[in-house]
Amino acid sequence: RKPVVLDVDTGLDDACALLLAGRHPELDLKAVTCVGGNVGIDDVVRNTLTVLDAAGRPDVPVARGAAVPLIQPVRTARHVHGADGLGDLDWPRSTRPPDPRHAIELLRDVLRDAAADGAPVTLIPLAPLTNIALLLRTYPEAAAGLKEIVFMGGSAGSGNATASAEFNIWTDPEAAAIVLKSAEDLGVPVTMYGLDVFYDVVVTLEQARGLSGSPSAELARKLIEKRSERYQSDGGSIGDGGAVCAVIDPSGLTTQRYPVRVELSGGWSRGRTIVDTRDAVDQASDPQGPAPVIHVATAVDAKRYAELWLAT
Ligand code: BDR
Ligand code: CA
Repeated sequence: RKPVVLDVDTGLDDACALLLAGRHPELDLKAVTCVGGNVGIDDVVRNTLTVLDAAGRPDVPVARGAAVPLIQPVRTARHVHGADGLGDLDWPRSTRPPDPRHAIELLRDVLRDAAADGAPVTLIPLAPLTNIALLLRTYPEAAAGLKEIVFMGGSAGSGNATASAEFNIWTDPEAAAIVLKSAEDLGVPVTMYGLDVFYDVVVTLEQARGLSGSPSAELARKLIEKRSERYQSDGGSIGDGGAVCAVIDPSGLTTQRYPVRVELSGGWSRGRTIVDTRDAVDQASDPQGPAPVIHVATAVDAKRYAELWLAT
């Protein structure tokens, strides 16, 4: 089984991702770390524990991480995820306490063990990259336990938080820039599962209505119903869940290697991921010097991933 860790700001679609990661037989979910994003950190932690309980995974350690981005104030997305971040569903809340460690301490411990066991972990950040930047800056040696990073965030095209920037990157652009640079310096491959594919993996309301018979299936159905309400359509995207699909079934994702910069200036394009699709000669002669090169998702087999999520 593939060892994985999720970093989340749960969030309706983070919940879709957690259900999949917690239940898929080919994944070994080692831990989940939380960061402020869609809602404040207290709600994120409670939502994450609640979803893992529904997934039948109360054994997975969940740690609280950064409450606010590195340098700018926190800005939530309650208009997308509800006041509580989980669609304000009538659903019993977990009473389980989180792990006493800070997120980056839990990550360091999991990654140290993974390195010692020769079984490096795939890290799947689905939220602002604050925790991951803090981890790589504080404990760069943790990279020895990392196989790769597959993150949801960014866009080669338009944004969603602003016309230019995707929410996770826009929330903490400095963290994103640190992660891309540090990962390259430390030799950790990175895949960007951005808005170019994020909305494509849709489960229809009709498919969702077939989900019943267990707490995870019931919650999965409610999540899709809420997502479809938000986007006023007859289906809901599993959003962050698609990044977990990409780890389970990488051949369903088309990627290309591109240099990517994060826009850190304070104007309208702050938080944009600038994907450099020029030819190699123009890239090499860029007066700004080289940018980190990562795998950028450009297309997804949406039907296959939706079916993978539903079946799990
Ligand atoms: C991202 O932001 C959040 O709203 C979602 O959970 C996802 O991680 C999409 O921009
Ligand atoms: Ca998220």
